[in-house]
Amino acid sequence: MAVMDLGEYGADFTADPYPYYAKLREAGPVHEVVSPYGDRVWLVVGYEEARAALADPRLSKSPGTVGLTMLDEELIGPNLLVLDPPDHTRLRRLVAREFTMRRVEELRPRVQRITDELIDTMLPAGQGDLVEALAFPLPITVICELLGVPVADRDRFRAWSTEVVAPTSEEAAQTAIEELAGYLRELIEDKRSAGPADDLLSALLRTRAEDGDRLSAAELRAMAYLLLIAGHETTVNLISNGVRALLGHPDQLAALRADFGLMDGAIDEMLRYEGPVENATLRFTTEPVRYGGTVIPAGEVVRVGLAAADRDPDRFPGPDTFDIRRAENSGKSPGHLAFGHGIHYCLGAPLARLEAGIAIRTLLERCPALALDPGAGPLKWLPGILMRGVRRLPVVW
Ligand code: HEM
Repeated sequence: MAVMDLGEYGADFTADPYPYYAKLREAGPVHEVVSPYGDRVWLVVGYEEARAALADPRLSKSPGTVGLTMLDEELIGPNLLVLDPPDHTRLRRLVAREFTMRRVEELRPRVQRITDELIDTMLPAGQGDLVEALAFPLPITVICELLGVPVADRDRFRAWSTEVVAPTSEEAAQTAIEELAGYLRELIEDKRSAGPADDLLSALLRTRAEDGDRLSAAELRAMAYLLLIAGHETTVNLISNGVRALLGHPDQLAALRADFGLMDGAIDEMLRYEGPVENATLRFTTEPVRYGGTVIPAGEVVRVGLAAADRDPDRFPGPDTFDIRRAENSGKSPGHLAFGHGIHYCLGAPLARLEAGIAIRTLLERCPALALDPGAGPLKWLPGILMRGVRRLPVVW
């Protein structure tokens, strides 16, 4: 098959990439493609191969392995997603205990309260943008509180952060990263001078003060950066893609409304059917690697196609059907790859599940007539191939 140029399909691909991924997958599990950013990458689109690639130590996460530098790494510092063991192991250990299922469960009452307040505020209007009213403010408020970032800064922060994960142009992304870098330096300086506080950034600052070897200043900045960005850009899209899927499938919506015990499975199906991360972050081959019948040479850039893998019919029969009772999500066998797999498996998965579960259940309970706004124009999709989501989700209730 000739090298597919995903950029050629323009807005059609951005609005609905699944048929293009299906066409690639039918031709084989691994392909060299031109991404919409114009670069050549190896895209892994088969489920088995994607799972293998995510956990393959022969694929490095460090761009330096192939002589590349990432702007955010250069300007802010090395974060978990551009590190391999042992640095990755050391840094992940410092934050892992804050995001365990048990610690996250303690946040439940607070997440419920923020959700209730947001829905109280949105209800009188009868219609509006669900991203603005709920999907964005909930996760950003939670992650800002957890890290100890002033919630008042969230709107400044939002524009930069969305530009980083779904760049509108190279120049705009560069400006956003530069401004974010300045913001994070200031933020950490303010925290340092404010003295001890009971939040995650203060705890990491203390770790640095007591045991500088374990966390450099750049690593601390980079950790704040990754947690802030990963902590909300993704969850926004889980809530909005999830609600959109439900509203587009009235039988599934009715089943969930009739039995909220189906919520955990429904969240997994939302993640599988239209997960927020369309393609995982970059990986680099340190030696030739064979998946299926294809050899990816050493020194190449690899993207694992999470959206493509999660619609692989060999793993998920009838993959384009949205089915909240799907047996493959039951947890007994390897499930969807929406949170990744292996040592870079999403640190925030329990938090994301908690937030989405509370947000969607409360929304459905308090808005019995919730529906997509029939008067809204076409949806505006986030550009690029990292994030899958809409900028606005107009609904009525
Ligand atoms: C629905 C919401 C979310 C989705 C779909 C998601 C998805 C992912 C995926 C696919 C990866 C692996 C990327 C790769 O291997 O290339 C990842 C890593 C990560 N996620 Fe999430 N994420 C979500 C929410 C969160 C939240 C709420 C947090 C914040 C606490 C978070 C923090 C992280 C971090 C720190 C990593 C890097 C882990 C490492 O490299 O060891 N994520 N996420």
